[in-house]
Amino acid sequence: MKAFVGKIVHTKSLNEFVVLPNGYILVDDNGKITEVGENYVKGNNVELVQLNDGQFLMPGFIDSHIHAPQFAQNGLGLDMELLDWLNNYTFPLESKFADKDFASKIYKNVVKTTLALGTTMASYFGTNHRESTLVLAETAVAHGQRALVGKVCSCRNCPDFYVETEEESVRETKLYLQQFESQIKSPLVKPIITPRFAISCTETLLKSLGDIAKSRNYHIQSHISENLGEIEFTKSLYGGKSYANIYNDAGLLTNKTVMAHGVFLEDEEVKLFAKTGTSVSHCPASNTMLSSGLCDVLRLLKNGVTVGLGTDVSGGNCVSIKDVILRALDVSHHLEFIKKQEIKGTGKISTTQDDYVPLNYKQAIYLATLGGASALSVDNVVGNFEVGKEFDALLIDTSLFPMPNFVLSEMIGQNFSPEEKVLELVQKFIFNGDDRNILKIFVAGKQVK
Ligand code: GUN
Ligand code: FE
Repeated sequence: MKAFVGKIVHTKSLNEFVVLPNGYILVDDNGKITEVGENYVKGNNVELVQLNDGQFLMPGFIDSHIHAPQFAQNGLGLDMELLDWLNNYTFPLESKFADKDFASKIYKNVVKTTLALGTTMASYFGTNHRESTLVLAETAVAHGQRALVGKVCSCRNCPDFYVETEEESVRETKLYLQQFESQIKSPLVKPIITPRFAISCTETLLKSLGDIAKSRNYHIQSHISENLGEIEFTKSLYGGKSYANIYNDAGLLTNKTVMAHGVFLEDEEVKLFAKTGTSVSHCPASNTMLSSGLCDVLRLLKNGVTVGLGTDVSGGNCVSIKDVILRALDVSHHLEFIKKQEIKGTGKISTTQDDYVPLNYKQAIYLATLGGASALSVDNVVGNFEVGKEFDALLIDTSLFPMPNFVLSEMIGQNFSPEEKVLELVQKFIFNGDDRNILKIFVAGKQVK
C-alpha cells in the first residue's frame, strides 16, 4: 500500500473541478485507489510519498485519437488539406509499415515519447497491416502504457500500394482480434475496431466491422465530419446520406465508439451521437493545421455528447495532450471572437448562444482526463481519483521551471485561499509548463517515469 500525500486535483465532470490542498490517495498493491481524502493519518505498512510545496498530483492525460505510424512524419507536410495530405504524404508513409522492423522502430519511439509527455492512455490507429499493428500493441505493453490499438481498415479510395479488398480487411481484422487475444496478455491494452473513414470503406465493409464489434462488444474508432471536401465526397459515395447515418446504419455508433473531429456535425447528427452514446475526440491542433475548421465542443457537450481530446498526430503537430489543451482553449476563444465580431461564416461553425463563454482551463483539463476516459468508455477504470479506479497519475513539480517560480498569491499579498494557491500551480503547469515539470508518471499504480 502507498499513500500519496500533498496537493491533489482532479475532476468529477465538465464543471466539477476538485482541489484537495492537503489531500491524500491510498493506492493498493494492485494499483487500485482504495481511499481519497484530506489530512492523512499514517497507517501501518503504508509507504509514504510526501509531495513538496511546489508539487501536485493530477490524473494522467488521455489521448483519445492518435495515429502511431504518422509520428514518423510529425511536423512535416502540413501544407495541404485533408484528402491531398492523405494521398501525398500519409498513405505512402503508412504503406512502409508493411515492414515490421521499420514499424517497431517508430512504434517504440511514439510510445516512449507520448508516455513521457504524460499520456497514460492512448487510442491508437495503426496501419492496414495486422502484424505491425500487433507490434504496436506489444510496444504499449512493454512500456506500461494503457492503450486501445486498432488495425486500420481501408478497401477503396486509397492508392494501389496501400489498400485491402473488402474480404481481406474483414479477414485480417478477425485474425488481428484472435492474435491479440492470444498474444497481448496485459489488461491495460485492448483492441479497437478501426474503419479509417467512410471514404476508404464500402457499406459492406462498414457493416461487417459493425457486426464484428457487436459480436464481442469491441471498442470502435473512426473519423467523422472533419473537412468540407471530405464530407462532400462522402455524401457522393453514400447517396447523400448524412455522415453519422452512414456509420449508424452499419452499427458503428455505439456507447463504445469514439469518432475523431466532428467539426461540421449537423444538429440531427449531434442528437444521434447523444442517443447512441457515441463520443467525439476533439483534435483542435489537427483541425487548425489541416485547415479543417473550428469545432465547437461546448455545443457538443451541451447536447449531451461526451468529448475527449486527441492529438491526431500527425494531422496535429502536438504530441503532448497538455499542448492540445492550449490549442482547445485557443479554438474556443476564436469561436467567441467570431461571435463577438458577428462574422457568421457558413453557419455550420456558428455557436449555439449569443453570450458565448469559451472553454476554461479547468474544463479543458476535464476533457484531457475524465472526458477522454469517458470518450474511450474506460471512465469506470481511469480518468480521475475515485475509489475503485486504477491509479493513473502525474506528479507535477512546478519548481522545476526553467523560469521564475513566482505566484501571485505571494507577490501581491492578497488573501488567496488554499484552493486558489493550488490552482495557481495548476495554471503555471498548464499555461507555461512542459514535460520537464512531469516528475513521475504512474499507470495502474506502477511508476513508468
Ligand atoms: N481521415 C482519414 N484518415 C485520416 C488521418 O490519417 N488523419 C486525419 N486527420 N483524418 C483522417
Ligand atoms: Fe485522425
